[in-house]
Amino acid sequence: MAKTLLITGGCGFIGSNFIIYLIENFDYKIINLDALTYAGNPENLISVENSEKYSFVKADIRDRDTLEKIIKNDKIDGIINFAAESHVDRSIMDARPFIDTNVIGTMNLMDMARKYEVPRFLQVSTDEVYGSLGDTGLFTEESHIQPNSPYSASKASADHLVMAYNHTYGFPAVITRCSNNYGPMQFPEKLIPLMISNAREDKSLPVYGDGMNIRDWIHVHDHNSAVLRVFEKGNIGEVYNVGGNSEKPNIEIVKRILSTMNKPESLITYVKDRPGHDRRYAIDATKIKNEIGWEPEIQFEQGIEDTIKWYLDNQKWVDNVRSGAYLEYYTKQYGNK
Ligand code: NAD
Ligand code: TYD
Repeated sequence: MAKTLLITGGCGFIGSNFIIYLIENFDYKIINLDALTYAGNPENLISVENSEKYSFVKADIRDRDTLEKIIKNDKIDGIINFAAESHVDRSIMDARPFIDTNVIGTMNLMDMARKYEVPRFLQVSTDEVYGSLGDTGLFTEESHIQPNSPYSASKASADHLVMAYNHTYGFPAVITRCSNNYGPMQFPEKLIPLMISNAREDKSLPVYGDGMNIRDWIHVHDHNSAVLRVFEKGNIGEVYNVGGNSEKPNIEIVKRILSTMNKPESLITYVKDRPGHDRRYAIDATKIKNEIGWEPEIQFEQGIEDTIKWYLDNQKWVDNVRSGAYLEYYTKQYGNK
């Protein structure tokens, strides 16, 4: 019989891509639990919403009673926790929702998973828990946890709690820590979709600081294939780094977007740097390769071209998510730029 997975945050960028990937290629039954915050968009799942393998429940991981009802009533074979407040700039404006969802929400889920003996739990974490690198070196699973933003501190706290539950109660958890994702259906407050959307409208492209901060980009499809492999094959109590072997300074990404879209570099505007801005992230993904046999498949050059095309072909999607709440945030973050 098909196994049932509870996927939290399945209406967000990575979660919705994950659910579509599973429904189209595997035999799992999916319950998607999402609170539909500003970042959650049920429209992402239109292609699978009528599948008999898929069901949706609007619920908040901060709400223990509702979580209990859901986990008690369905026989759940595993939980994959994507649900989170995920944007660093928003965490700098207000840390509270990050602690509530990313830390307390994760604890609530784990408590209910323990109570009803869910056999497997995967926490979707981030390389940002390791802090910032200098010009050389890579993050390994042994690197110190040194988060620098309220977002990364909340994710690091959750990771510590997951590991503590594993150590103390034998809680059957694994953690993935992935680098920056790009691909279809990413909310246009993050670097790549924001720059594509602004370039399309000939609006200025706000680059923080000197534009030389480096991220290790991975296509969302590669992240999701890693999450599934770790969920199925990862050793309980272990952390697996996931990366795309594709370090790029922000300015290079922005220039590539402009040249692909035939837009002038004069659209680039250097703006005030993000406070506490991490300089460089880069992942050593040797462990997941050696233990599980996973490697990324999508080359950045092809992935970014496909991604730009997706946003240009799906302008209605972009318009729909850039609602009133988005405009309010945009003005707060960038003024009238
Ligand atoms: P996202 O912001 O696009 O989506 C988050 C989803 O979680 C939304 O659908 C939202 O409605 C839901 N959610 C938020 N609070 C909730 C709550 N209290 N209860 C239930 N649902 C809630 O985020 P994303 O980029 O898809 O990231 C997914 C996960 O992957 C996060 O845990 C993030 O930390 C992690 N991650 C992201 C990246 C990246 O580059 N985006 C990289 C590594 C790890
Ligand atoms: P972001 O997509 O917010 O991801 P993260 O902060 O989690 O890495 O930002 C990626 C990089 O792009 C980061 O160095 C900040 C930079 N950035 C800009 O220069 N301008 C922008 O408008 C945004 C949103 C990000």
